[in-house]
This record gives sequence, C-alpha cells and structure tokens, in this order.
Amino acid sequence: MKKLKNWDNKTWLSSKLYISQFNKFLKTKINFNKDTKILDIGCGRANIISALQKKYKFKNKSTGIDVVANKDIKKNIVFKKIEALKYLKKQEKYDLILIKQTIHFFSKTKLNRLLNLAKKSLNPKGKILIFSLKTKNNKIPCFKKMRKNLEISLKRDENLFKIIKKNLKKVSYTSFNFKVNISKQKYIRMIRERYISCLLNMNNREINFGISEIKSEYKNQIKFTDTLKCISYRK
Ligand SMILES: C[S@@+](CC[C@H](N)C(=O)[O-])C[C@H]1O[C@@H](n2cnc3c(N)ncnc32)[C@H](O)[C@@H]1O
Repeated sequence: MKKLKNWDNKTWLSSKLYISQFNKFLKTKINFNKDTKILDIGCGRANIISALQKKYKFKNKSTGIDVVANKDIKKNIVFKKIEALKYLKKQEKYDLILIKQTIHFFSKTKLNRLLNLAKKSLNPKGKILIFSLKTKNNKIPCFKKMRKNLEISLKRDENLFKIIKKNLKKVSYTSFNFKVNISKQKYIRMIRERYISCLLNMNNREINFGISEIKSEYKNQIKFTDTLKCISYRK
C-alpha cells in the first residue's frame, strides 16, 4: 500500500476539539497519572499523545512510532520512524498501547504478530486499545468509487476484528463518536490530498471525477458522525 501522509494534516482528526474529545474518551478507559507509559502505534503527527503529555506531564514521555516521519510531528513526545513489529521486538513495557486507525495496514498474519508482541509489551494491568472505523452504516462522505473502496476495506476490517477477538479473547467493545462539521471546500482539499487509505491508489482523473460528484451531491457545509469502534484488552 502507498504511504498515508495527509490523514491528520489540518483535518478534523487533528483539530483541538477532536483531540480533546478523544482524550476524554481515553480517560474513561485509563487512569492516567504521572507514571503512565504510553506507546502509540501508527501515531501519525502524534497529536493524541502530545496532548496527553501536556495534560498529565508523564515522567516518561510517550513514544509514538510510524513508518512515515511527517515534517510537523509534535516535539514533546519521543517519535521513532520504525515499523511496528520491529519496534515491539525491543520488548519495552507500557501501561497503554494505542493502535488507532492503523490495523487495516496489516495482513492477517502480521496483525497476529502485532497483537502477540503488544501483549508481551504490557505492564501488569496494562491495556491495549484498538480503534477502527465502524464497519456498518459508516457515514464518511464518499463519492461512488471511494465508497466502493471503503466498503471493501471495511469488509476486510470485519475479518481483522475476528482475528483480534480470537487472539486477545477477553475484549470489550465501545464506540467513540465525533460530530464533524466541515466546509465542502475543506473536505474536497482532504480528498485531493488523499487523506484516507481508500483514496491512495486512485489516479488524478478518478479523484477529480469524484470531487465533481461531491461538489454536486453535498451542501456547502458537510455534517456527519465519525464513529470508531474501540476494542479494549486488559492484561
Ligand atoms: C490512518 S493513520 C492514523 C494515525 C493516527 N493513529 C490517528 O488516528 O490520527 C495510520 C498510520 O499508521 C501508519 N502505519 C501503517 N503501517 C504501519 C506499520 N507497520 N508500523 C507503524 N506505523 C504504520 C501510517 O503511516 C499512518 O501514519
């Protein structure tokens, strides 16, 4: 798969409101304190762990890893440009391993390896939290070809969820909902920048055709709920 670079590049996913609501949701799952050690796998620009670091002033700065090193990665965390499986072999221990909107980059075999290594990298009572787009009735605004690609990817995610359940066994499920309100113009920029992986393999002609579809089918202000399934595992 091509590399994803604009996922959190000035989108609702990097907005202060999104990050603060997401981190409030995390607080319902984790009792953060100064000693909490966090690893964010596929951290992107590390907005989430950076905001957590500001709030909780962890003694050990959180670590974010990603295969892409963007220019504007947050500075108050430890960032490593490294593939997740390779990093986890170091066997450092964490209280929280966050894997947000990243599992779809893994094959079934690699996902199992990732989970096995992540389990071994937890402190006693440590948690793994996996977030992924909800697969049924997903509201992300799409043009036709984008929707088709997204549906294929979400079908694949359902299989990945089965693998996760089989591997981690004692998991619980909740949802994180964020109400998006974005101008059509901004959303079109996000599509042009291929913000989501179902756009990565489209050529410019397909993207431009899709944008004209979005232009004609959506109002100037686009509103929808971005829903993530959260899978929680505790050691
Ligand atoms: C959709 S983005 C999500 C970013 C961030 N977690 C968030 O939710 O805002 C997925 C990220 O996973 C990274 N990624 C994909 N495969 C990876 C791997 N094998 N190891 C580490 N990072 C990976 C991508 O480069 C990308 O930055």
